[in-house]
Amino acid sequence: MPATVVVGAQWGDEGKGKITDHMAESADFVVRYQGGNNAGHTIVVEDERFALTLIPSGVLNDTVTPVIGNGCVIDPAVLLEEMATLKSRGIDPSGVRISNNAHLIMPYHRRLDAVMERFLGRQQIGTTKRGIGPAYTDKFARSGIRVQDLFDPKIFRQKLEVALREKNLMLTKAYNQLPMEPGTIADEYLEMAEQIKPYVTDTSLLIWNALRADKNVLFEGAQGTLLDIDHGTYPFVTSSNPTAGGVGAGIGIGPMEIGRVVGVAKAYISRVGSGPFPTELDDKIGERMVEIGGEFGTVTGRRRRCGWLDTVALRYAVRINGISEIAFTKLDVLSHFDSLKIAVGYRSHEATYDEFPRQQRVLYDCEPIYQEVPGWSEDITAIRNYEDLPKNARDYVELVEDLVGVPIATVSVGPARSATILK
Ligand code: IMP
Repeated sequence: MPATVVVGAQWGDEGKGKITDHMAESADFVVRYQGGNNAGHTIVVEDERFALTLIPSGVLNDTVTPVIGNGCVIDPAVLLEEMATLKSRGIDPSGVRISNNAHLIMPYHRRLDAVMERFLGRQQIGTTKRGIGPAYTDKFARSGIRVQDLFDPKIFRQKLEVALREKNLMLTKAYNQLPMEPGTIADEYLEMAEQIKPYVTDTSLLIWNALRADKNVLFEGAQGTLLDIDHGTYPFVTSSNPTAGGVGAGIGIGPMEIGRVVGVAKAYISRVGSGPFPTELDDKIGERMVEIGGEFGTVTGRRRRCGWLDTVALRYAVRINGISEIAFTKLDVLSHFDSLKIAVGYRSHEATYDEFPRQQRVLYDCEPIYQEVPGWSEDITAIRNYEDLPKNARDYVELVEDLVGVPIATVSVGPARSATILK
């Protein structure tokens, strides 16, 4: 059976966790292929709220094997803590499988993430300060330390010493910080190695065998298309490829193994951190979206910037990921507005755009071209059949389908698992 990919079609926080958890009911494997504990997945199961950052959302289904692929960066302390928290709440996380080739987030990555951001001042990216960027920097500089190195203490200590020789120079000379001690870090990590060992495996082979055995494999993207290192609003992006193209490299399978790409998009749009955002609402409407939508980050608690749905960006996400259907979330947040706006293009002093502009400057300078549609006043959170939605809500959904050219297959009207309409 070809695999399914769930990707964020905006700047992250689209509600992928809820959609993945819902789809995981029929999945055998739920696989993360990029990112680390910068991702926040909030899932509500029977009034219980789970906030996961590293372990795939599928862990809440006891028939699912959650997998963390080689394209991820792993902070082992966070992994163990998240497993312990799940266990204390009655969820058995012992089925988790972790790639031997995933890179480790080290304490100096976290420290550098924080001081580099401070150093950037007004140009800062607004990272989650979890060490994600510096860990990927080391991966591509070929000076990273991988999960498998934890099981060879001599090599681990050697690699750590070499890394710290450079990092300590950066910390002390460039950023005026105290140096870090390799021995202490090695002891701490090698102790965690023993606890992590039972979960480590060749995850590429695991997924290859699963696909050959006709298992249902679901890839769970973290962050979103517009935060992709190649296709996002660089440099205000994360340091990996959350787009569907990241799956092949991030787990080690070929493109022919993927048969379905589900793009998750909120009925409006939000972003955390810095960077351009054409439809941002710096007014009472934006404020209302934050309040009603509970738009505060799962990882950092930061207030998210909110704005009207941007179908220029959404069509871009459809193209970049090969999205075959959309899961449309938080439609309930748009209830009780007299009218709603949808961006269908951008206008700058030079030109109008119906495709995502190739020159990023345009995103700062442009005005969105809006189509305005009537809102609805009914509370829709208890509705479970598409036909029962108010006509204006259905018209809104169907207009978005027309504008982006792919079907909206799922509509989410609340955080609970059950608050999901299959269209
Ligand atoms: P980093 O991934 O911590 O390096 O942060 C880079 C950018 O991605 C910042 O703007 C973060 O706010 C954003 N970011 C990272 N992870 C998420 C996420 O899961 N949701 C939304 N934004 C994210």
